[in-house]
Amino acid sequence: MAKVLMINGSLHAGGFNQQLTEKIVALLGARAEVSVLHWADVPIYVQNQEFPAPAAVARVRDEVRAADAIWFVTPEYNYQIPGGLKNLTDWLSRSLDAANPRGESAIHGKITTVSAAAADGGTHVRPLLEELLAFIRTQVQREAGSGVAIKPENWASGALTLSEAEEAALHQQATALLARLAMAA
Ligand SMILES: Cc1cc2nc3c(=O)[nH]c(=O)nc-3n(C[C@H](O)[C@H](O)[C@H](O)COP(=O)(O)O)c2cc1C
Repeated sequence: MAKVLMINGSLHAGGFNQQLTEKIVALLGARAEVSVLHWADVPIYVQNQEFPAPAAVARVRDEVRAADAIWFVTPEYNYQIPGGLKNLTDWLSRSLDAANPRGESAIHGKITTVSAAAADGGTHVRPLLEELLAFIRTQVQREAGSGVAIKPENWASGALTLSEAEEAALHQQATALLARLAMAA
């Protein structure tokens, strides 16, 4: 069965993107082997600390390498990719071979897809993250990404709700990803 790794760009326990991540895990259900990456311990990228990679970096790289696809779920910070997630992708983008800076990275060639929970559904952050994922040589499903707007009642209750259209787009995104994985199998 295809392996899908979820990467939530927010470390906010119980936050909107965690709720969206949990919804996607449930949505994929038994149609894929799904796990969630824990990356809170990944240090800030420093070039002279790449070899040997810090233990947390080696672990997240192993989890990424073991996955067939990576589903990113992200908040938007000042219309941008949150710093923690950008730092994680920087580590993931680097060559695994000290002798060859152009060598393969842990994330090279992976099928990727992007969702966001943000005030406006992440209309700014989603294309930025998709562009980054294409640049670091992943196979990003640009047309299939989806966003969930954090609505006034969500801010008040702390609970994320999806409109019918958002729910349909998320289902479509899952279907597109599973179809892509089936093609690759
Ligand atoms: C530094 C910072 C910048 C933010 N900028 C944006 C923004 O540009 N667009 C947006 O929709 N929300 C923005 N927010 C609000 C986030 O959407 C909000 O904190 C949300 O709860 C983050 O998702 P989470 O609960 O999964 O962490 C910002 C929050 C912070 C802390």
